[in-house]
Amino acid sequence: MTLAVLKTPTAPQAPAPQTAGAAPRLSVSGLVKRYGGLVAVNNIGFALRPGEILGLIGPNGSGKSTVMKLIMGLERPNAGSILLDGEEIAGRPSHRVARAGIGLVFQHSRPLHRQTVLENIKLALLPDNLLRLIADPGVERQARAIAERVGLGAVLDRLPGTLPFADLRRMELAKAIARDPKVVLVDEPFAGLTSGEVADFSALIRGFRDEGKAVLLVDHNVKSVAALVDRVLAMYLGEPVAEGSAAEVMRNETVRRVYLGGSIETAARSQSTFSGSPLLKVENLDVFYGKAQALRGVGLHVHEGEFVSVVGLNGAGKTTLFNAVSGLVPYSGEIGFSGETLRRRSPAAIARGGIVQVPETRELFGDMTVRENLDLGGQHLPVAESDRQRDWLYELFPILKSRGGQIARTLSGGEQQMLTIARALMMKPRLLILDEPTLGLAPVILEQLSKALERLRQTTPITVLLGEQNVTFALPHADRVYVLEHARIVWEGPPDRFAAEAGTGYL
Ligand SMILES: Nc1ncnc2c1ncn2[C@@H]1O[C@H](COP(=O)(O)OP(=O)(O)OP(=O)(O)O)[C@@H](O)[C@H]1O
Ligand SMILES: [Mg+2]
Repeated sequence: MTLAVLKTPTAPQAPAPQTAGAAPRLSVSGLVKRYGGLVAVNNIGFALRPGEILGLIGPNGSGKSTVMKLIMGLERPNAGSILLDGEEIAGRPSHRVARAGIGLVFQHSRPLHRQTVLENIKLALLPDNLLRLIADPGVERQARAIAERVGLGAVLDRLPGTLPFADLRRMELAKAIARDPKVVLVDEPFAGLTSGEVADFSALIRGFRDEGKAVLLVDHNVKSVAALVDRVLAMYLGEPVAEGSAAEVMRNETVRRVYLGGSIETAARSQSTFSGSPLLKVENLDVFYGKAQALRGVGLHVHEGEFVSVVGLNGAGKTTLFNAVSGLVPYSGEIGFSGETLRRRSPAAIARGGIVQVPETRELFGDMTVRENLDLGGQHLPVAESDRQRDWLYELFPILKSRGGQIARTLSGGEQQMLTIARALMMKPRLLILDEPTLGLAPVILEQLSKALERLRQTTPITVLLGEQNVTFALPHADRVYVLEHARIVWEGPPDRFAAEAGTGYL
């Protein structure tokens, strides 16, 4: 086993190694994958040289993750060739592909929950038939070195369930590079990370390149992808639409139209529009997890029809705040809705009262179809109304309409996010709580979602409480903004004063 992983990552500003002349490490050509009548990947091809990063971009559902799964041997292609150092690996099972030198960082974290961080990494280090080697001191040393490299040195003995989001993602990175692969496939490493964390992850990925690995990178954070990659391939509906430098591809007409979309523009309404007693009133809220205080004296209010954004980085307490409102965590302080206290009400009763939370983690019924998931959301409505609501949502999210019969679990990451939001809207909530809805959505879908929210705002009496760290999304829609930092509200005001007063740290 090689110890190349022990190398310290090179400085981020190191120039890309000269790769133009080198033979391709990975050559993909004519790749096709069909699911029934759907062509998820159609005639995709590219070459990837050692020490090169290729970005793969495209709208939600365009086939990016499928390309990675085909290369990794997690799905079998219907046609096409995948050469690793000249050797055909298409159709091989994934453990053999891993052994041949390819590692995949999954779009969603999937740790073994009963094993510690260190044990998870050790397991990833071992060839499948050598589990007994887990006690080997060499393996232990190597696992620690990898953990150190990705920044998990301090949490080796923790269980994955107790880790913050970014650390879970670090663990996926660690597992993918454990066996020192020649090719690393990285699916949405930046989704849900703060800008500081994105910088850390970018440096790690640059480190892979600098030690000669070939990297295929997928992410909707276009800026960070462009800063990192040597070339970009853009996909749409499974097919290649543009290839070249990041700047060239971003200028491409089709890429602009189907992926990047336009800018998000809306305007806050003046506070005088909203008077009387607020619909939601949170006062002096304290929440503890054991000894750790997750919320400290938090107060906020939302008027009927108002759109309020809570801006805060990962770990600031947004989800805890929303969970308290939804009755999911115990708290001290007071939460009132429509003039009545929510204290001692069950989560189910709170939901029936019209507060619907779209959780950060998509809680879809994975084995049911898109349509069944939506209909479950609308089950308390009279049939005609439920049908009307579904038709309206199909208009907002056309992709869901064409996928009515698809099993939810097989939707792409972004498609699942749309379904989660749509299902919540099927419930016709009085107060819609959106927790990081932009996670994993393509820019053009953000724009669509943005328009959908704007239409909601103008055509229905719906009240929205939005939690985001993506301020480019959170600010334009908001009538009012709160900033949550380290368990406290530190700023409140209209969105147009945000930049000047609340800190450019978010912008
Ligand atoms: N097992 C399956 N059965 C049917 N359709 C599938 C299956 N797996 C994937 N698909 C469909 O194939 C298309 C491509 O999915 P893929 O996950 O590759 O998209 P993606 O480009 O990674 O999107 P995102 O940016 O949202 O993650 C999607 O429309 C998805 O719904
Ligand atoms: Mg994907």
